[in-house]
Amino acid sequence: MTYLANPTRYSDMTYRRCGRSGLQLPALSLGLWHNFGGVDTFENYRAILHTAFDQGVTHFDLANNYGPPPGSAEENFGTILKKDFLPYRDELIISTKAGYTMWPGPYGDWGSKKYLVASLDQSLKRMGLEYVDIFYHHRPDPNTPLEETMAALDLIVRQGKALYVGVSNYKAEETAQASAILKKLGTPCVIHQPKYSMFERWVEGGLLDTLEKEGIGCIPFSPLAQGLLTNKYLQGVPEDSRAAKPHGFLKTAMITPEKLEQIQQLNALAQERGQSLAQMALSWILKDPRVTSVLVGASRPVQLLDSLECLKNTNFSAEELEKIETILK
Ligand SMILES: NC(=O)c1ccc[n+]([C@@H]2O[C@H](COP(=O)([O-])OP(=O)(O)OC[C@H]3O[C@@H](n4cnc5c(N)ncnc54)[C@H](OP(=O)(O)O)[C@@H]3O)[C@@H](O)[C@H]2O)c1
Repeated sequence: MTYLANPTRYSDMTYRRCGRSGLQLPALSLGLWHNFGGVDTFENYRAILHTAFDQGVTHFDLANNYGPPPGSAEENFGTILKKDFLPYRDELIISTKAGYTMWPGPYGDWGSKKYLVASLDQSLKRMGLEYVDIFYHHRPDPNTPLEETMAALDLIVRQGKALYVGVSNYKAEETAQASAILKKLGTPCVIHQPKYSMFERWVEGGLLDTLEKEGIGCIPFSPLAQGLLTNKYLQGVPEDSRAAKPHGFLKTAMITPEKLEQIQQLNALAQERGQSLAQMALSWILKDPRVTSVLVGASRPVQLLDSLECLKNTNFSAEELEKIETILK
């Protein structure tokens, strides 16, 4: 099968500027953390990627360790890139990261220059790419000087192996420090990838303000709380859900009766707004102009199509926002 991209793929998508950079991202981006690994089904994840690009989702997010096994999501993505997306390479923003355990020994984890440079070289090989568009340091390293980690990001850009750099899971203060170092080096920090959803609000306690001040874009991950902020767990745990999979990072213990009660109430409010709960959860994040793009996951094409509908209504009345706060208390 030869893949031909939908000719109208740019007609409905909104692109938002990433901080004060030249980079624009689709309001909704696709992450390959789950559902694209060696344990998953090729034709299914290939169809998810086609659906995404056909709807104007130009940004695919990876990391060295996505799978399982680690590395397999990048390999699988590389296979599909070669088969289907090479003619569209210049229309794509592909990101990867290093920062979590990838290989044994002291050089396969955290934030040393040795690890970041070697890991990106491995990622490029797995994906069959000459460069990635964005390279992230995946998590702060308390034992490596921040200057060294940021110098590694700067080096990678100067080597032409990444066009832009960002950080993930850095707290507000760490982000401000990283940004100051990178500015001095001449390679600005363009994007931050934090966990943010109705159930995970830490970024509101200073990070979003820091990002705005520094001119850094924000791409929240797990905006659906890995599927909790959808209608999928309302009637139990479906067999094919992330929570039911042994390698899934969502554990059934996280689906507590209190959470379910909140999900029920949020679901009712979403229905009043004429949205699915997934759509409302995504719209709720996108209402903040400091957010560049929401980074969703999907286990099938239809979920992505459902999620994309969130772009049709990202406005909330004061009353709706208040209701959400009351439910989440
Ligand atoms: N930087 C970091 O440290 C970090 C950490 C985690 C993730 N990320 C990035 O963020 C991306 C997204 O994370 P995530 O997968 O946890 O995001 P998420 O969007 O919160 O959860 C995705 C899951 O929600 C369910 N879902 C998605 N759309 C749905 C819909 N419309 N209706 C019903 N259910 C729906 C699916 O669950 P089922 O699989 O059960 O069907 C899907 O796998 C990752 O792929 C990765 O790129 C980054």
